[in-house]
Amino acid sequence: MRIHLVAAAAVVSVAAASVAFAALPKDKALAIMHERHEGMEKIGDTNKLLRREFASSAPFAPAVKSGAATIAGLAKQASGWFPPGTGPEMGNTGAKAAIWQNQKDFQGKLVAFQQAAAAFNAAAASGNMDSAKARYIAMIDTCDACHKSYRSEMHH
Ligand code: HEC
Repeated sequence: MRIHLVAAAAVVSVAAASVAFAALPKDKALAIMHERHEGMEKIGDTNKLLRREFASSAPFAPAVKSGAATIAGLAKQASGWFPPGTGPEMGNTGAKAAIWQNQKDFQGKLVAFQQAAAAFNAAAASGNMDSAKARYIAMIDTCDACHKSYRSEMHH
């Protein structure tokens, strides 16, 4: 009886996995995973510039503005970076399988980031660097919250 239940559960999860694969051809999945990786790297590089600006006593407003706009734009694009079938079962990625097992929580963290990035962008555009810094710090919390649960170190 116990064995039957386990076998039934295995059949269900195999079926779920093949639905995800069927929905997305391999070349498409790999292209999205590449775009996601490049996008996150760009977010990371931009963040390094911003961190440097905010470490200074007089952040250079045009650099902060441009960095904030870049991250806000990429944050919007990120809505298309995590379709089912682009996890570790498809190839080398820092995206954990947990993303697709906890969709509600993951999407909530993604939206929190998008909202924080938009708020940071608006503050930066206003030219008030104190308020931009406060919004920047709040946004970084949303990066960390997602990485903590959903990102693993990549093995190149
Ligand atoms: C909603 C979840 C989420 C948010 C928010 C998020 N990230 Fe990521 N990040 C990921 C995942 C998942 C990966 C691994 C992606 C992959 O390897 O395909 C990643 C990877 C990265 C990488 C490494 C590049 C790579 O693809 O391995 C950097 C750098 C990075 N993120 C920086 C940031 C910064 C900075 C922020 C905030 C400004 C941020 N991330 C916000 C989920 C998130």
